[in-house]
Amino acid sequence: MKVLILGSGGREHALAWKLSRSSKVDSIIVCPGNPGMEITPKVSTDNLSWKEKDNFIKRIEQLNPDYVVIGPEDPLANGVADWLREKKIPVVGPSAAAAKLESSKIFAKNFMQKYDIPTASFKTVGSVEEGYTYLESLPMEKGIVVKADALAGGKGVVVTDKLDLAKSAVYDFLDNKDCSISTKEILFEEMLRGKELSAFALCDGTNYVTLGYACDYKRVFDNDLGPNTGGMGGYQPQGWPSESVKRKIDEVFRKTLLGMEKEGNTFNGFLFVGLMIENEEINVIEYNVRMGDPETQILMPTLNIDLHDYLKKVANHSLNESIDISSKQKSCVHIVLTSGGYPSIDKTPLNTNNPISYPVEYNDPTDGSIHLFFAGVNRNNKNELVNSGGRVMGVSAVGSTTEEAKELAYSQIKNFNFKGMHYRQDIARI
Ligand SMILES: Nc1ncnc2c1ncn2[C@@H]1O[C@H](COP(=O)(O)OP(=O)(O)O)[C@@H](O)[C@H]1O
Ligand SMILES: [Mg+2]
Repeated sequence: MKVLILGSGGREHALAWKLSRSSKVDSIIVCPGNPGMEITPKVSTDNLSWKEKDNFIKRIEQLNPDYVVIGPEDPLANGVADWLREKKIPVVGPSAAAAKLESSKIFAKNFMQKYDIPTASFKTVGSVEEGYTYLESLPMEKGIVVKADALAGGKGVVVTDKLDLAKSAVYDFLDNKDCSISTKEILFEEMLRGKELSAFALCDGTNYVTLGYACDYKRVFDNDLGPNTGGMGGYQPQGWPSESVKRKIDEVFRKTLLGMEKEGNTFNGFLFVGLMIENEEINVIEYNVRMGDPETQILMPTLNIDLHDYLKKVANHSLNESIDISSKQKSCVHIVLTSGGYPSIDKTPLNTNNPISYPVEYNDPTDGSIHLFFAGVNRNNKNELVNSGGRVMGVSAVGSTTEEAKELAYSQIKNFNFKGMHYRQDIARI
């Protein structure tokens, strides 16, 4: 069996590593991947880009994988899963039409409203004037959420109780040519309160397997200070949420798949639901149509199954039943190591090209409690692994409790080093 994975980060490394553990998988090619993931047995990389469609399809046909797993949202929103299905290449990943659950927040809100999926109340507007008028009619002390209707890499949402900040978000998203985000419509949402949780399922259109739950940390510094990032780490909660909340989350997965099928947009692939939970009530904040990064690195190490069995069935639309395969016995804590300067909001260059030192025994962990997943790394002319991107690598530690996993992660991270390295000290300090 040969599996091809699209993407280059820690998420794709974690998927490749989990697949490498299957006795049925002979090789895993990650496109474009990164040189750090090649340390994992059976894993190679190929500098293939989906952005040149004809060349991409031709090369995939040559490589002839048994199935393809699409990691990030961009290729999904651009229809790469559709191209592969047209060529009869089995793929794990939704069509561009189904990927709108993530690529259009307004599509997702209308969908949730139509199929009775709990979510914050909302309003859409198409002009700055209309946006300002609406904001001025609100009691701002309750807060408001302003969202752009586009894939914005975590930069398209403003949560505030300040009228001027809400107004500048409206202007930036709709009219400001200097803003990196541009959208024709924006979404206002009621501000929810509570604790956030992400839930993950692998879906074949009709059935799904529950992969588990995770809490993540988005801000760059401890105590949730500093700018937003792609994710600084996270953990698998234990004893929370309650069984009754898990049943409500199950209902969300079930209704989502049924609704998508009814709309003629059958959903195949990973479904990631962002939730706000307060007093056992759940509300869906957003859908993502792929695994999370770093949530994949949190969930894969404790999954006690052969991932290949499930991915193969999903790629061939043959799960046949919905089951929960999430880990009940173990917890995992994941800490992301970033380059100095990340997330570089003022465009100052990152401190890169620094050799990374770490205990090499973790390249192929024998006791399975520490796993390294590489992201923004490269090799220098001495063939040393150096940091080349914002999020460089992550350390996942597994324990029988979250506390134990956290202690292990932080005790080992002292042995990792590169110039400018930064990580949060408070991951899983619940
Ligand atoms: N209605 C809401 N009420 C309170 N907080 C919200 C709401 N919507 C979003 N948020 C906060 O903003 C974050 C980002 O919003 P989300 O819709 O997940 O966008 P994205 O992940 O695409 O940037 C959420 O993780 C949550 O912390
Ligand atoms: Mg989100």
